[in-house]
Amino acid sequence: MEKTTNESYALITGASKGFGKLLALELAHRKINVLLVALPNEDILSVAAKCRELGVKAETYEANLTNRNDLLKMTNWVNQNFNINILINNAGKGGTQTFHKSDLNYIENLIQINVVATSIITHQLLPNLLKQKQSYILNVSSMASFSPIGYKTVYSSTKRYIQHFSRALCHELKGTSVFVSVVLPGPMKTNSEITGRIEKQGLLGKIGLITPERAARVSIRRMFKRKPYILVGRRNYINKFLLSLVPAKIRMHLMTKAAHREIDV
Ligand SMILES: NC(=O)c1ccc[n+]([C@@H]2O[C@H](COP(=O)([O-])OP(=O)(O)OC[C@H]3O[C@@H](n4cnc5c(N)ncnc54)[C@H](OP(=O)(O)O)[C@@H]3O)[C@@H](O)[C@H]2O)c1
Repeated sequence: MEKTTNESYALITGASKGFGKLLALELAHRKINVLLVALPNEDILSVAAKCRELGVKAETYEANLTNRNDLLKMTNWVNQNFNINILINNAGKGGTQTFHKSDLNYIENLIQINVVATSIITHQLLPNLLKQKQSYILNVSSMASFSPIGYKTVYSSTKRYIQHFSRALCHELKGTSVFVSVVLPGPMKTNSEITGRIEKQGLLGKIGLITPERAARVSIRRMFKRKPYILVGRRNYINKFLLSLVPAKIRMHLMTKAAHREIDV
């Protein structure tokens, strides 16, 4: 089937709010057309309108990315209609819970959106990205991927997967037109639930705190500079360095203690 346009687009998942919305606006500021994907809601339409006001084309697709059929319909729609030269796998969920008390749906959802959706979307869109002269994939991991963290047991593990997946794929794609970056943001107050969690963490939450606006600007700038590994903010570099000096056992203990403060057990 003929594509409806020869222009290139950036696809951003989870673009209706938070970090994903700011990444989409940052790309629109740089005059890059955007395809915005999120759960069905009205916010995504207003983000698209804001992008258009910045002078770019913006299309939306509403899908629950934890549903395999919805996900594959979305990637088929993209491949049939658009040239993609930027893919940002941002849609994701966080969470702090006692593992054995967690609902099964919570565990499954987190793995589906953070791990499975990122992997399948990348797999399905790679042929499209490889056809373009120069393409970029930016995956969103987290500073929480640097250590196992109790109570964030599932979350920190899924973000570790994203870190390894991105670095490995970057190596696998050497010599092709596709470059893969992974960004590891520290805490960002993107919505009231996350803000509440960060404030309960105490010092560890405050040390690496960055604004999502700054994180979006830095991420896009470094993605275009072909940086495979993106940390945001000097404090997060220091944070990572200091954590690397602490023995793994103590690091895990400190981070688990901070996570424990977030929940009422
Ligand atoms: N905030 C932080 O402190 C922080 C730190 C490190 C990394 N991160 C990562 O940054 C990314 C964005 O986080 P955020 O803080 O901006 O979160 P957020 O405000 O909750 O935004 C998450 C986005 O993902 C979308 N989404 C969630 N589940 C989905 C599903 N099943 N199908 C389709 N879309 C779905 C949401 O769509 P709806 O609006 O339709 O729900 C929303 O657009 C995540 O990967 C997160 O893990 C965040």
